[in-house]
Parts: sequence; structure tokens; C-alpha cells
Amino acid sequence: MRDALQNTCEHRCAKIDNLTVKLGGNVILDNVNLHVDCGEVIGIVGPNGAGKTTLLRTLLGEIPYHGSIAFRISGSLTKKPKIGYVPQKLQFDLSSPISVADLVAAAINSKPIWAGVSKELLEKAESVLSLFSAEHLLKRRIGELSGGELQRVLLAIAMTPEPELLLLDEPASGVDVKGLFLFYQIVDDLRKKHHIAVILVTHDLAGVSCYVNRLILLNRSVIAEGAPQDVLSDEKLVKAFGPSLWNISCLPDSISKEADNGNH
Ligand SMILES: Nc1ncnc2c1ncn2[C@@H]1O[C@H](COP(=O)(O)OP(=O)(O)OP(=O)(O)O)[C@@H](O)[C@H]1O
Ligand SMILES: [Mg+2]
Repeated sequence: MRDALQNTCEHRCAKIDNLTVKLGGNVILDNVNLHVDCGEVIGIVGPNGAGKTTLLRTLLGEIPYHGSIAFRISGSLTKKPKIGYVPQKLQFDLSSPISVADLVAAAINSKPIWAGVSKELLEKAESVLSLFSAEHLLKRRIGELSGGELQRVLLAIAMTPEPELLLLDEPASGVDVKGLFLFYQIVDDLRKKHHIAVILVTHDLAGVSCYVNRLILLNRSVIAEGAPQDVLSDEKLVKAFGPSLWNISCLPDSISKEADNGNH
């Protein structure tokens, strides 16, 4: 099946062939072959410096590469799909007066917001934030947010307008356990209802395994790929990360019920 589709990109949302990226004279990604189907969540794991962020930035068109990257949306090849992106790091001036409302409004509005945020736009921003139970942060300055609160805001922005491909670079690293559960639920929902393809980079080996369709171990090239339980038990993963410390245990029922009740 996989081989038959290799050269056509049919049914694939993104298909990467023989991708090589050099930065500062070093080969960072070496002959990477990878695909993500529409309606699929793939997890990418790998040690620090493995090239995970570089891969996402290459997909975003920020980094020159050799090889081929093809996108197919609703059956047609497209140069660039609508991509939602949550970066691993975001640098901004902590003393900036910009509020969450300003940030979200600027992201969801096609026109500049110099004249201020209208009531209508404010309501839209609030409903976007409510996706991640973050509406209470609307009036806060971004410099005041905790790491996890900021991640929730960035996730909400990345979902608006609804992307065709969602690239998440350790999006939940600072999020608490209930927020993490909510995050995985939303990603799963997007996949099922809207057929969005999601590439999720994470170090949360245990949590991610419960929610991704496929797991990929990247370390300059694809070292292992397959069902999460197979990849996690692959000895190459142990070599990449050292002795295994994780247990695959999805979040307990009690947490999921609280999260479902919006109890954050
Ligand atoms: N602009 C650059 N110039 C030179 N080298 C770079 C550049 N950007 C990244 N690198 C190098 O590329 C390698 C891969 O970096 P990358 O950020 O993709 O790793 P990562 O897998 O995301 O790691 P982490 O888990 O720490 O986030 C690192 O060795 C990094 O130093
Ligand atoms: Mg990274």
C-alpha cells in the first residue's frame, strides 16, 4: 500500500521524499522520508538536536532543502496548505503592554488592529480561547502568562482559521496534566471531525502514545516508524534516549472526567 502511493502523493496530506537539510555546514536532516495522511496524527520523538524543529520549519518553508515536499489537500496537489504552527519557543518582550486579546485579535483578523479591538473581534477572540479553556486569560498581558497559559493561547491561535496541516513543536511542554489531556482530546477531535493532519513533536513519550496513529523516531533521519507501542519498545529508541523510564499509561478516568467538565 505504502509503496503503491509513494510517487503519487494520493491520499497523503504531506509527503516528504529524500529530504536533506544542511545548516551551518552540517547535515541536520539526512535523506528523511515521511508522510502524514489527512485525518492522521503522527508523533515525532527523538533526542535533543535530532532535527525535529528543523523538520517542522522546513515544512513551513523557512529553511532551504534538497529533496521533495508535496502537499495534497482535498485530493489536489497544492503548493502550500493552510498550516497552523505552535513553535517550541517564542521570544517576546516580557514588559510589552500587548494583551492576550490583542495577540489573538491580530492573529484572527485580516486587517491591522491599530484602531483597537472591536467588541465583535473581542468576542471572537474569547471564543477562540475557549477552545482551550483559556477565555479567562483574554485581558491578561502576555508577559504575565505562565508557560502553560501561553501555550494554551498559542494553541488556540494555531487552530484559527482551521488549518489543513497542524505542526506542533512540543506544544504542551509547560501545560499541566488536565491541560495536557484537554489538548490531546482537541487534537483527536480535529483529526476525526475535520480530517486535519497533525504532526506533533514531543518528549512526552508516554502521553503521546495514547493519541497518535503513528510514532516516528527521528535522529537526523527516520530511525523507526510504526505503531507507538512498537516504536517505544524498539531497541533503537532505548539507544536514542537511554534506558527507558516511561510507562504507557493514558491519563486516569478521574482526570478525564474533570477535564470533560471543563474543570481547569
Ligand atoms: N540556524 C542553524 N545553524 C546551524 N545549526 C543549526 C541551526 N538551527 C539548528 N541547528 C542545529 O541543528 C540541530 C538540530 O536542531 P533542532 O532544533 O532541529 O533539534 P530538535 O530535535 O528540535 O532538538 P530539541 O529536542 O532540543 O528541541 C542542532 O544540532 C542545532 O544546533
Ligand atoms: Mg526542537
